[in-house]
Amino acid sequence: MTSSTPTASFVIIANRLPVDRVPGPDGEVIWRRSPGGLVAALEPVMQSVDGAWVGWAGQPDLDLKPFTEDGIRLLPVTLSAQDVEEYYEGFSNDTIWPLYHDVISSPQYHREWWDAYVRVNRRFAERAASAVAEGGTVWVHDYQLQLVPAMLRERRPDVTIGYFHHIPFPAHGLYAQLPWRDQVLQGLLGADVVGFQRAQDATNFLTAVRRRLRLDVKGSTVSVPYGGPRTVVARAFPISIDTTPYTELAARPDVRARAAEIREGLGSPKKILLGVDRLDYTKGIRHRIKAFGELLDEGRISVEDVTLVQVASPSRERVDAYVQLRDEIELAVARINGDHDTMDHTAIRYLHQGFPREEMVALYLAADAMLVTALRDGMNLVAKEYAAARSDQRGVLVLSEFTGAADELRQAVLVNPHDIEGLKDAIMQAVEMPPREQSRRMRALRKRVLENDVNAWSRDFLAALENVRSAR
Ligand code: G6P
Repeated sequence: MTSSTPTASFVIIANRLPVDRVPGPDGEVIWRRSPGGLVAALEPVMQSVDGAWVGWAGQPDLDLKPFTEDGIRLLPVTLSAQDVEEYYEGFSNDTIWPLYHDVISSPQYHREWWDAYVRVNRRFAERAASAVAEGGTVWVHDYQLQLVPAMLRERRPDVTIGYFHHIPFPAHGLYAQLPWRDQVLQGLLGADVVGFQRAQDATNFLTAVRRRLRLDVKGSTVSVPYGGPRTVVARAFPISIDTTPYTELAARPDVRARAAEIREGLGSPKKILLGVDRLDYTKGIRHRIKAFGELLDEGRISVEDVTLVQVASPSRERVDAYVQLRDEIELAVARINGDHDTMDHTAIRYLHQGFPREEMVALYLAADAMLVTALRDGMNLVAKEYAAARSDQRGVLVLSEFTGAADELRQAVLVNPHDIEGLKDAIMQAVEMPPREQSRRMRALRKRVLENDVNAWSRDFLAALENVRSAR
């Protein structure tokens, strides 16, 4: 620990810092708070206990000194262009991401990528080790940093360590493909509490620990003989959203007026269907578009009556699988529009862009049905945002069974997106659902989301960590 750097009693480590670097009006650099709920949830904790956030600023070779933004102390980690290619695009997003999402796309296994993953995880661990105060708490986030808990424990055994896994953890039969499967489990077991989205993810992890490392697992607790002996708790803590901005925006007259304007701009169709995703092969965008196209082909809906708005925000654009997916989706959209558009109506309004939250809430209010058809998704927060925004108790959520959200949002119209006929029927059910049924279902969805927001999530997780600390 260097005595010159002030230490923090609570440190978050995530691949990304909670701010985005954007050019200001005069070409200067401005840091803008990223829209994710994680920052909002942790802000009160960070400020009450003197916190710091370790992460990457999102661009290669950016050597930044620590700085404070909106009251949060930020400790940037530098990634070279090679680190970005091998650790971020490679091992994180072309090995772990597809493997953990049930091999929807083929994971690539490269030994140099693994070496980069180890190297960069060590850099994050070292940054946190030198930043955290004696006996402090560190909360590590997500699959890019699975080795950090053990690396940190080795350097700072005095610290309480939590890890939260935001994406699925696969069944052992798939996990076992990973050439470095034992090292990753050992990395995670450096934490005192390992949190997952769904009970099934925790079970998959515990099964892998038992079968691969032959450790003693009782309920949700693992006995770890090394670096201890100690116990590690692994269980589900389903994440949620900060609901306040959604309910507040949904009540604003200008946002409601914008929703009406969006409908008019689409030629006032009777029904608007909406998809909102990062452009990612896990999201089932192709399945959704295929089902919608077939409904038009078969005349079960017409382009005058029903429009699909698909917002697909750009993501990981240098990874091959994403480049290919974009081509496939854009070809499918162009074909359907070419076959069905009229001068006044479009079948699919496709937007390869991100939008500010105001515009998203206006879209949620305009959408008669929200289509979440992910093939595999850790949670899916868009589903929760839609429910939070619909304070008018209207709108239908069509939700894939393969999302973490489906464990909680049982009043949605649940679908298997691989079953295109079933998906078509679910879309028709949404299009035709009487207002009373919409309202009954939406009330239940909103109750669940509003009562279990992101603040409840972080409280639960930190309480579990506190239990471990006090049991020491
Ligand atoms: C998922 C992951 C996050 C990640 C986000 C955006 O939600 O769980 O860890 O930050 O996708 O992906 P990106 O690669 O742009 O950070």
